Amino acid sequence: MESIIKHLTNKVSDAFEKCGYERRLGQVSVSDRFDLCQFQCNGSFEGAKLYKKAPLMIAEQIAEILRQDSEFKSVDAVRPGFINITLTDEFLTKAANEVLLDENLGISVIGEGKTIVVDYGGANVAKPLHIGHLRAAIIGESLKRIARTLGYNVVGDVHMGDWGLQIGLVIAELNERHPEWCCFKEDFDLETENVPELNVDDLNEIYPFASKKSKENEEFAEKAHKITAELQKGKPGYIAVWKEIMRVSVADLKLNYGKLNVDFDLWYGESDAEKYVDELVETLKNKGLLRESEGAQVVDVAEESDKVDIPPVIIKKSDNSNIYATTDLATIIQRQKDFKPEKIWYVVDKRQSLHFTQVFRCAKKAGIVPESTKLEHLGFGTMNGSDGKPYKTRDGGVMRLSDLLTTVTDAAESKMKESEFVSAEERKATAEKVGIAAVKFGDLINHRTKDYIFDIDKFLSFEGKTGTYLLYTVTRINSVLKKTEGANATEISGIYSDTERELILNLILSGEAFMRSFNEKAPNYVCDNAYKLASLFSGFYHDNHIINEVDETKKASWVTLCNLTRKMLLKHFDVLAIDSVESM
Ligand code: ARG
Repeated sequence: MESIIKHLTNKVSDAFEKCGYERRLGQVSVSDRFDLCQFQCNGSFEGAKLYKKAPLMIAEQIAEILRQDSEFKSVDAVRPGFINITLTDEFLTKAANEVLLDENLGISVIGEGKTIVVDYGGANVAKPLHIGHLRAAIIGESLKRIARTLGYNVVGDVHMGDWGLQIGLVIAELNERHPEWCCFKEDFDLETENVPELNVDDLNEIYPFASKKSKENEEFAEKAHKITAELQKGKPGYIAVWKEIMRVSVADLKLNYGKLNVDFDLWYGESDAEKYVDELVETLKNKGLLRESEGAQVVDVAEESDKVDIPPVIIKKSDNSNIYATTDLATIIQRQKDFKPEKIWYVVDKRQSLHFTQVFRCAKKAGIVPESTKLEHLGFGTMNGSDGKPYKTRDGGVMRLSDLLTTVTDAAESKMKESEFVSAEERKATAEKVGIAAVKFGDLINHRTKDYIFDIDKFLSFEGKTGTYLLYTVTRINSVLKKTEGANATEISGIYSDTERELILNLILSGEAFMRSFNEKAPNYVCDNAYKLASLFSGFYHDNHIINEVDETKKASWVTLCNLTRKMLLKHFDVLAIDSVESM
């Protein structure tokens, strides 16, 4: 469906053209003062400069033409030159019914035939999934779904850290603890011998232990580095342990991401890039970009206009091992081969921005993607505790995601205890959904680049911009719909109160919020819009007695409006990857 803004912009542009002005002056925007008008066009001001006329004169000319159009209730030229536009209730009603029937609920489809790869999640194998990865997962999942809603072919890739030093550290520690394991023998045979099974608790314990040890014990650190390099060269025994670590770790990751409604099309990791590293090195060599520096192979990526120092990117370390940048570049080769994406989005902590600047520059210099491919680092801020510092557990440790989810579910459950609408049996499952919705919405409502404070009490509040309030609004609509099942509700027949006019207007404009979130790659606009719809619905619900209404036509129209609001809110939840609950 064509967006209302586009539709109106076309009409106003036609009017500008008809008067001999440039079409682009006809851009229409939503008014922020609905008491004055619903839409605005400010093109007369630029027109005034271009055509040396008073803005008000241009505005009047345009308004004069637009007034003949029966879609407009009023068009006013307002000092010093605004064009204020208000649509008729008939138009709004018709548009609302169209949105209701549209399978994408009026959200424009703009991405057909184009591919975006979204690199998000970024969990590190062998390390427990911690709170730092929460934002990457939930923001990335949402951006993926927003782009998909706009019709893009979107490929989500978790891009696990499964090939770096952390694996070397774990293997080194396993070797110290179990030197007798077959995989540590020089003649280990990958075909016939098996590594003993590990479990997730072992892994969760061993990585922090080994990491700490490497900081205190140089010999151990060296051993871990050596193992990492040998693993990357494919030493069979290490590959076998690595595979076992992967098996356990990935199963656990899938479980945790699943709880957050986060799922990936590709479960690739840095290790999957290994097979493209030779091609990367060849390409860089052929282009004469590779040079030696202190034994390492590097590429210069500094540019004259740089205001800060952008160091060369290291492709091969002096021991010939690959680093983070190597696998990221090799992965771009893979993505280009497999998908020829128009864009690759990296949803990664904003503190990694230097890394991505280096990698993107190198990729473009090497020509491993066309100049037109957009490589974008969508950095995000940190989730902080009430002290304003990155969120920690009470004892100062890094909080595991699974612990966080238990904490919020418990908090939600104790709140649910007061509810008469949720039975004791349903309580646990409902609490889990409410808790997760609260956390996700509490995160996504902030612009992705901002830091925010994790405050579970605030997130679980039934008032304000919270996931809890939104879920609650849907349950209220559910209950109205249940009680009015008899109403023959298939269309919105008119506008019977002021509050519903504003609700309808915002429903037909909701597509704009999706578009803005897509353009700015920030889900918070969808969150804001969901909140706006919910509070407008509350106003409408408060003003009108839907259930007891005796006028059947009016009642049916209101019930349809409830239905459309519900559908639209669920569409918002869907792209935020938030589950709704029947009642709470
Ligand atoms: N594993 C990385 C980390 O924990 C994040 C990976 C992000 N994606 C990427 N293509 N570099 O920091």
